[in-house]
Order: sequence, then structure tokens, then C-alpha cells
Amino acid sequence: MAISERKIKLQISDMDKIYDNGDGVRNINLDVYTGELVTMLGPSGCGKTTILRTIGGFLSIEKGDIAIDGKSISSLPPERRPTAMVFQSYNLWPHMSIYENLAFGLKLRKIPKDEIARRVEAMLELVKMSGSQKKYPGQLSGGQQQRIAIARSLLLQPEVLLLDEPFSALDAKIRMQMREELKKIQSELGITVVFVTHDQEEAMAISHRIVVMNKGKFEQVGTPTEIYDNPASKYVASFIGEMNFMNMDNKIIAVRPEEVKIRRGFKEGAVNGTIRTIMILGHYVDVNIQRGDDVLKSFIPRTELSDLEVGGNVHLEFGKTLEFPAEG
Ligand SMILES: Nc1ncnc2c1ncn2[C@@H]1O[C@H](COP(=O)(O)OP(=O)(O)OP(=O)(O)O)[C@@H](O)[C@H]1O
Ligand SMILES: [Mg+2]
Repeated sequence: MAISERKIKLQISDMDKIYDNGDGVRNINLDVYTGELVTMLGPSGCGKTTILRTIGGFLSIEKGDIAIDGKSISSLPPERRPTAMVFQSYNLWPHMSIYENLAFGLKLRKIPKDEIARRVEAMLELVKMSGSQKKYPGQLSGGQQQRIAIARSLLLQPEVLLLDEPFSALDAKIRMQMREELKKIQSELGITVVFVTHDQEEAMAISHRIVVMNKGKFEQVGTPTEIYDNPASKYVASFIGEMNFMNMDNKIIAVRPEEVKIRRGFKEGAVNGTIRTIMILGHYVDVNIQRGDDVLKSFIPRTELSDLEVGGNVHLEFGKTLEFPAEG
């Protein structure tokens, strides 16, 4: 089904959330479709958590509206919103067992005991934590704790799941494993998710669409491929993936490292340079070329490395390039 034919689950319209000191987010408009995973991506302080908290009801908004399934939720307290939020860390109650942590919300909803036990067990299986009912959070690794935190929020069967950098405290390898599991669970359950990260690779890997944020505003909203291939601004181009920028004829020319081909020797009229470093990173090689004061980056397959050496003079050929207006 084309995404435009899908039902809107979450709608944020003309929303402002400004703190007393003037910081915050302005003029936020976003539709998230049922079953979609949308990621807010941007540097520290750009307003990602602020938006997530307004959706969850932990912050009130000054202007605009937030609706789920067409109904405004802006005036509801967090516990009456059909949302569940997982924070960066400290999600579990340390004095409760894993079972009690998971069962808590269901008990409040007066679900029968044996039904709770059944749901908890099924959920633990889904997040690959079967058999951990009797343990305490302190006996689990960071990654396992976050899995339980996600399990707990999924048990509440929220219409929209809000995840604020849930994997940022984990080391790189576990983080990659967790993101894969989250993606699998998300598509299996068809749940609608708003995910927050400042890690562009994580955003590229798991999202249906990415919102690139800059200083409280949206810079671009699009699929990972749209954003990677056609960044709307120099900011987006530099934030997502690796990008070379060159000042040429009062314009900024941008080219991805995989679009930079290296040829031996200088050539008149071409972009000439000298190889500065060669780093073999597995199946591809990261080659840095000094060109005047600039360093340009090229990714080439290992098979193309043979006749290149550090200090060698080369000229560059570019595949796809992008153009941005000169700054200033
Ligand atoms: N309670 C608050 N009172 C005043 N200003 C705040 C408050 N919370 C956040 N801010 C400011 O609002 C802006 C956005 O903060 P927010 O926490 O949403 O950023 P973020 O994108 O989540 O950053 P990070 O990646 O570091 O978590 C920042 O400039 C921050 O200093
Ligand atoms: Mg944050």
C-alpha cells in the first residue's frame, strides 16, 4: 500500500512548545501513518525530546494541536493518552522483579492474574528475555534492561510508542543488535513508533521516514533514501552520511565519498591532489586526498587500491554531485 493511502495515526499541527528561556520547538507539523516508524534525528539540543514529551503529555504546548486517530489529545494527562514512552535510561523500577515491572500496568487495568501471566510470558519471548521473570533489573545488562523497558511499554498496547534514544547507553555492537530486533518487532506488531536518536546511521537503518531537525525546526522530512540522495540543504547533506564540500565558482559542490573516483597523476583542469591517508576498512577503503587546504574523502573497493600509495599525485572524477548556494 502506498504510504499516502494509509491512515494517519498521529497528527501534530502548527505546534509550538517554548520554554520560559525562549528555547523550544516552533511550527511543528507532522503526520505519522499507522504502522510507520518515524525518527526524529538531530544534534543535541535541537528539540527531539521536547517533541516526544509533548506527544506523551509530559509537557504542555503553547500553540497548535496533537491528535491520535483524529481525536485531540493535547489536554489529556500522560496516563490518559494512548501512548507509552521509553526513556534513555533508568526505565525500570529497581526494587521490583522483572515480572512485577511488566505486570504493573496490566494490574492497574484490572486484567485477570492468569491473563497477565500469559501476556508477560509471550512478551518476554518476543524480546528474547524468556525466563527472566524472577530477576531484578540490577541483575540484567543495560541492553537486557532496555529490552524489558520496551516490553513493558508494548504490554500497554499503546497506539503510539515513543522511544527516546533507548539504545544510546549501549555499546555499538549491542546497539546494532537491538535496532534490528526493534525493527523486527515493530513490523511484526505493526505498531506506530516515533523514535528519537542523534545517530544518523541508526536513523537510516530503522526508519520508514526521518525528520532531520536543526535548532527547534524541521529541516527535511523524507525516507532514508530521499534524504541521503537528495538532501534539501547543506545542513542535511553534512548531517547524514559522509559528504565532501568544495567551494567552486561561488557555489558549494557536494559529493559523497562513494562518488569520488581516484585516477593516477595530475591532470590539467581537473581536481588534483595528493593522497594523504589510506585506511582499509574491510571490504572498502577510505582514501583521503589533500587538495590545497581541503581534504577530500573517497570510498573505493579494495580491488581498486592496487596502484595507489600515500604521497602519490592523483586527480579526481566525480559521479553524482549536488549543488548548494555559497554561505555568507
Ligand atoms: N525544562 C526545560 N527548560 C528550559 N529549556 C529546556 C528544558 N528542556 C530542554 N530545554 C532546552 O530546549 C532545547 C531542546 O531540548 P531537548 O531536550 O528537546 O533537545 P534534544 O534534541 O532532545 O537533545 P539531546 O540529543 O541532547 O537529548 C535545548 O536548547 C534545551 O536546552
Ligand atoms: Mg533528548
